[in-house]
Amino acid sequence: MLQNVLDTQKEVLDFEITNAETLEQFRLNFLSKKGKVSLLFEQFKLVPGDQKKEFGQKLNILKNIAQDKLTNAQVSFTSVANDLNIDFSLPGDQITIGSRHPLSIVRNKINEIFNRIGFTVADGPEIEDDWHVFSALNFPADHPARDMQDTFFIEKNPDILLRTHTSSVQIRVMETQKPPIRALFPGRVFRNEAISARAHCIFHQVEGLYVDKNVSFADLKQTLLYFAKEMFGKDTQIRLRPSFFPFTEPSAEMDISCSICGGKGCNICKYSGWVEILGCGMVDPNVLEACGIDSKEYSGFAFGMGIERTTMLKYQINDIRLFFENDVRFLKQFAAEA
Ligand code: DAH
Repeated sequence: MLQNVLDTQKEVLDFEITNAETLEQFRLNFLSKKGKVSLLFEQFKLVPGDQKKEFGQKLNILKNIAQDKLTNAQVSFTSVANDLNIDFSLPGDQITIGSRHPLSIVRNKINEIFNRIGFTVADGPEIEDDWHVFSALNFPADHPARDMQDTFFIEKNPDILLRTHTSSVQIRVMETQKPPIRALFPGRVFRNEAISARAHCIFHQVEGLYVDKNVSFADLKQTLLYFAKEMFGKDTQIRLRPSFFPFTEPSAEMDISCSICGGKGCNICKYSGWVEILGCGMVDPNVLEACGIDSKEYSGFAFGMGIERTTMLKYQINDIRLFFENDVRFLKQFAAEA
């Protein structure tokens, strides 16, 4: 009896399947209802009790060998493969690999430049309250940014809104951490603006904040000069123009020498040789006090820049809408940068 199993196993192994016909022959010979393997299973009841265990084990091995051989051959010789005339040896389709979005590339680069001089990265909510976006930042009650025309409000009284700038994260960090604070806050911001080549209702900013004892305007200036050279090239120059923001005093806007024309004048810099890149200033003592930081002991600087604007300058992109349209012909141009 046992010998029958071993003989059949040899037959199974020796059987050559070369096409659909011999495949079917193999199935009929061994695995169909009247096939040899099935018949051996029927003989199981005749096997003496003390041999049942060994016979059963060997028979199961035989069945698995036959079944595997059939399954493997089916992949190569079944009618589906033959009918469709598929060549299974052909190489597969190439998978197209995506690339990082230009805004992510520039955000990562900004993070990396400031990480090198000790700035950590922190996050804050996009849905905010009036305190963090306006009041704690020293905005007067009648400031136009509080107007329905400029800001997306979710609820009024108490006001819940989509943050209009990442300066709100300054407040969250200063409320929860003690100086020294040296941090960067990248994120998405929202403004009720008509969409055009230069403006969008959703865009991104990076905010920077440094609060410690004896922080001065000279620290701000050198930090921003270092950033400009790292971001736009070592020959880049900066220029600070007096400006006004409710949360900084004094305040300034920073221009960089135009990286496109090298300062000679072109249509990107409107023939002035300079392009505006960010707002900055010394943190207003009112803001420090609103967050529970003693403004007699501590001082700080802050700055904020648009990531879209920085990216447009760096890569000479002339329409902000391109960032949000997800046209792969645009996006794949940055594949090598990431
Ligand atoms: N929050 C300002 C804006 O959205 C940008 C800004 C200006 C941030 C000056 C600052 C700053 O931290 O000091 O236009």
